[in-house]
Amino acid sequence: MPRQFFVGGNFKMNPASREQKRSLAAILNEATIDSSVEVVVSPPAIYLLPLKEILRKDIKIAAQNCYFKPNGAFTGEISPAMLKDSEIPYVILGHSERRTLFHETSEFIATKTRASLDAGLSVILCVGETLAEREANKTAEVVQSQLKPVVEILKEEDWSKIVVAYEPVWAIGTGKVATSAQAQEAHADIRAFLKSAVSPAVAEQTRIIYGGSVSAKNAKELGSQADVDGFLVGGASLKPEFIDIINVNK
Ligand code: G3H
Repeated sequence: MPRQFFVGGNFKMNPASREQKRSLAAILNEATIDSSVEVVVSPPAIYLLPLKEILRKDIKIAAQNCYFKPNGAFTGEISPAMLKDSEIPYVILGHSERRTLFHETSEFIATKTRASLDAGLSVILCVGETLAEREANKTAEVVQSQLKPVVEILKEEDWSKIVVAYEPVWAIGTGKVATSAQAQEAHADIRAFLKSAVSPAVAEQTRIIYGGSVSAKNAKELGSQADVDGFLVGGASLKPEFIDIINVNK
């Protein structure tokens, strides 16, 4: 079965007001969207349920993070069980901003991935190398080391609920997008790794999406690469051009 194209919008810590959140929802609600694409948007936690209330039902919602415990004395955290109970189907885990600014390790991210799947969520799992790591020819090694703890903690059947987002850190929010050849090479490496570390079927079926300065201008070429199954869009997901990115194959 062909892999369904996936476009996620990671709003990060935006929009800055409820009014802006309503404007974003209006852009999405009024747009004609390619129905063959799975579209997921990820607002800050405080807007998850209000956005879900007003957003068209063919666009899904993702949390930007969660903890691994179901409840308890963990100030500031939300749990996979709470997301599930609130009918939020997806969670983004392992974003480079969480790895860097909040010191999340690949092992911790794997634990949260396990807990999210156990609660019935799907996971957008982010991986990617820094510029220094790329320049040292360590891209594949770094990405594999980020994936390894997840591979070790998941069963083969869990992978149908994982979307891997390859996001080179140097391309995030910089306007310095990976070339289509760089993206294709990294995605093909991830698929080859999944083939050897999990199974050929998982490698074939798992969607690997690209993130890092995706725009309406570069989406067509990136999205036409054999192993690029969609995008995780940051900055441009807050603008009307997000619709053009979703509809890139139309
Ligand atoms: O999760 C999204 C990525 O961090 C990409 O962000 O499109 O603003 O570069 P960006």
